[in-house]
Formats: sequence, C-alpha cells, structure tokens
Amino acid sequence: MSVMSSTFQGLAKNKMANKMALRYGLKFGADRFVAGDKEEEAVRCVKELNNQGLLTMLNYLGEYVFTKEAADSATGHCIRTIDLITENNLQSNLSVKITSLGLDISRELCMENLRKILNRARRDNVFVRIEMEDSSHCQLTLDIYKELRAEYDNIGTVLQAYLHRTLGDIEDLNRYKANLRLVKGAYKEPASIAYQDKAKVDQNYMEMIKQHLMNGNYAGIATHDDRVVEQVKKFVAKNNIDKDNFEFQMLHGIRGDLQKLLASQGYRVRVYVPYGVDWFGYFMRRLAERPENVTFVLKNLFK
Ligand code: FDA
Repeated sequence: MSVMSSTFQGLAKNKMANKMALRYGLKFGADRFVAGDKEEEAVRCVKELNNQGLLTMLNYLGEYVFTKEAADSATGHCIRTIDLITENNLQSNLSVKITSLGLDISRELCMENLRKILNRARRDNVFVRIEMEDSSHCQLTLDIYKELRAEYDNIGTVLQAYLHRTLGDIEDLNRYKANLRLVKGAYKEPASIAYQDKAKVDQNYMEMIKQHLMNGNYAGIATHDDRVVEQVKKFVAKNNIDKDNFEFQMLHGIRGDLQKLLASQGYRVRVYVPYGVDWFGYFMRRLAERPENVTFVLKNLFK
C-alpha cells in the first residue's frame, strides 16, 4: 500500500479530521461519491438511477458510534430510509455498517437495533445487507449475521478477498445459503491476516466469486475492475449460471459508463448510494483506493 493510500486510510478513522469535514460541509469533491446530506437528494439520485435501469442500495452514512443516543439515531435513520424506499417506490435495498448501530458499545444493543430495522424491512419487502468493516469486527459481524439469518430471509452480508480466512468463510456460509456481496476489501489490514499483494487479492477475489456461484448462492459482485467483470461473464456463460443468480454492484460516482453498459447487456446492476452528513470516512476510503482521485479533489478546491 502506498504512503498516500495509508494516509487516507488513517484519516478515515481520525475523529478531529471528521469533525472539521462536518463543519465545512460536503465539499472538496465528496459530492462525486455521496448523493447528498439530505433525504430528498438521496431519493432524487436513486430515481435517476432507477430510470436508467439500475437498481440501488441506500446507505445512511455512519460508522464507529460510541454512545447509545448516536446508535439509536442511526437506527432511526435506517428505518426512515426503508420508509423512503417504500413511499417513493424505489428499487433499492438498504446497506448498513453495524458499528453505526452500536456494535462497539455492546452486541446486545446492536442486535436490538438490527432487529428493529429488519422487522420493518421484512414488513416492507426490503433486503438489508450488513457491510463488512475492519477485521477487528469481522468474526462478530459473521456471528451476528448467522444468528439473524435463522430468523430473517431478507438479510445478507459481505466478504472481503484480502483476508486469508475468506475462502473458508465462503464454505461455512454455504450452510446458510448466504446472499453475499463479494469485495476486494477497503481497510488497512496487517500482513498477518490479509494479502498485501494486489495480484494475490485479485486472484483470491476470482476464487471466492467462482466458489460462491458454484455453491448455487446469490452473489453481489462488487467491483469496478473490467478484468473481473469480463472473467465473471465468461465463467457464468460456461457454467450455465443464470443472470438472476448474481448482480454486479458498483459505487455511485465510479464507472457509470460500465454500469450502464452492463445493464444494457441484460445484467443486473446495483449502485451503492450513500447519503447523510457523516461522509468523511467513506470519502477518505475512496481516495485511498485510488490516489488519482486526489487530483480531482484538488481541482475542485481551486474551482
Ligand atoms: P480495484 O481497486 O482493483 O480497481 C479497479 C478499477 O476500478 C480501477 O482501475 C479504477 O478504474 C476503478 N476504481 C476503483 N476504485 C476507485 C475509486 N475509489 N475511484 C475511482 N475509480 C476507482 N469494502 C469493504 O471492505 N466492505 C464493504 O462492505 C464494501 N462494500 C462495497 C460495496 C460496493 C458496491 C463496492 C463497489 C465496493 C465495496 N467495498 C467494500 C470496497 C471494495 O472493497 C474495494 O475497496 C473497491 O471496490 C475498489 O476495488 P475494485 O474491486 O473496484 O478494484
């Protein structure tokens, strides 16, 4: 990982930088990746994407919350997001980081909040995906997923290709017929548990996609990598895997051209649409993934 990339990874979790960013608003280019800080901006963004034949998943931005009030507030925003989906007839899922629901305060609080969200989502026929955050939360996230999967059909989670453990988790989660989003991984992780070599991560990524699809489980293949997309297309054609058994997922503001192209070819494409005021950590991880984006940010600053 480059020095610049590590710096943005560090900033993503820096409280002071986060506060400064909140004070100065959704500027500096973050609005390329985030729909807006208001509900109506999120709804408008999703409607535009839906009109172009793209599905979406809404995320009310928030992570690493350490007070019950903040966790309850995030839960309220998730429920409100489900209401927005229903009221506006949006073709959208909900995607949530469970550190925003109080995971670092207690497992019980987090479960209680998740059940509130899942109950409303089940009532309204909305699918909820628990995102995967840094590795210190990985096992806990999977344990919570498994417990709730026994109670709910409308739940999925995420696995990351950079972790050494992941192919084992793919097999383990086969017992749960898990609907998984598969990603390369966005956090800074040590060599003891995660591949540092990009080629190795890419190789593991293809392995996990193939294994999960061959197990007959639904895959959200979340990448902007052209080579992966091409390999997946060939793999599903060769193995007669139906287009209803997987979807490509991409982030709002990244590779809109590819999103539309795939949709026009009859693939299911789902765009991740984050909104809300707590956008800083998310924005920093997007810069860390692609330091070229910094040039774009600097240009915005001097506009
Ligand atoms: P890779 O990094 O190899 O990039 C391939 C190409 O994509 C680049 O050459 C460039 O063209 C484009 N690209 C990639 N990132 C870009 C950026 N920031 N700006 C502009 N262009 C870019 N991670 C995680 O740990 N937990 C999670 O829950 C999720 N959830 C999630 C949902 C969705 C829908 C997506 C698409 C991604 C995630 N991620 C994630 C992030 C994921 O782990 C990974 O960091 C990014 O997707 C970047 O990796 P790629 O697979 O796109 O490939």
